[in-house]
Amino acid sequence: MDVTRDRAWKTLTAYTASEGLLRHALAVEAAVGAYAVTFDGDEIFWRATALLHDFDYEMHPTLDKHPQDGAPILREEGYPEELIEAVLSHADHLEMPRDTPLKRTLFGCDELSGFIQACGLVRPEGIETLTPKSVRKKLKQPSFAAGVNRDDVVNGAEEIGVDLNEHIEFVTAALRPIAGELGLPAPSG
Ligand SMILES: [Fe+2]
Ligand SMILES: [Fe+2]
Repeated sequence: MDVTRDRAWKTLTAYTASEGLLRHALAVEAAVGAYAVTFDGDEIFWRATALLHDFDYEMHPTLDKHPQDGAPILREEGYPEELIEAVLSHADHLEMPRDTPLKRTLFGCDELSGFIQACGLVRPEGIETLTPKSVRKKLKQPSFAAGVNRDDVVNGAEEIGVDLNEHIEFVTAALRPIAGELGLPAPSG
């Protein structure tokens, strides 16, 4: 099959109704898509993978099923193994090697994009003026966005091979153009 964004979006929305999950998919897509340009990856393929990484989470919200029980569905739909393997590799509990730039980038953007969204939600200007410094300050507050695994954020940057501040800046910049779609305050005009 031809992996297209449209196809990935159709699969995602066939299994996902939650606005929060759709926004998470869009955020990870934006971050991974921006890195595809930097790392000379196949941007459409990377974006589709990011969109689909949690496509089964609504029906499989626990780690004994997500994402491994979603993989056969993707296979059935005709997605290539390369995409399915990348989707599976974002889950630490499956202990799959993250041996491609796409796998490392997906992992590195997953938790951080959620954290940046959370930072934007508590600021009147959203992520427009959000700096790595204030993101790092929030990372040190365990009660803030407590569901985000701090180790994954730090390890994710390391796996990609970028400095954490630069990674935060890069992902924030990737999310800014879609702030409105993410339910964050969007700059007017
Ligand atoms: Fe996941
Ligand atoms: Fe995710």
